[in-house]
Amino acid sequence: MVYLTRRERFNAAHKLYNPHWDEAKNKEIFGKCANKNWHGHNYHLYVTVKGKTDPNTGFVMNAKTLSDLIKRVVIDKVDHSNLNLDVDFLQGILPSTENFAKAIWHELAKHLVGVELHCIRLHETENIYVEYFGEV
Ligand code: NI
Repeated sequence: MVYLTRRERFNAAHKLYNPHWDEAKNKEIFGKCANKNWHGHNYHLYVTVKGKTDPNTGFVMNAKTLSDLIKRVVIDKVDHSNLNLDVDFLQGILPSTENFAKAIWHELAKHLVGVELHCIRLHETENIYVEYFGEV
């Protein structure tokens, strides 16, 4: 089994806000991410698939095919968008990096053939990232 990772980058705005809390509590919990006029992040997305190497190509999966899929299914929808308002697969989901990574997993997993999705790693800042391995 070999693991192949493709990195993509995109920029998007969001707001983290729990409607059951007042503004002070939202600010306390979510900090700058609760800013009522939105704010942005420069996200780095690492998608790792796993599988056996093809004897004809030596590839687990063609990395260009993986890149094209990530662009079509994820990047084209989220880049320079508002994650709370613009993205079909995030409707009704609080766009924390954790929830976002899980949603990306579910979007990509249904399109992969011949390999398994192993990990979605999503960097929100230089110092914060989450990893999701498909567990509930
Ligand atoms: Ni934020």
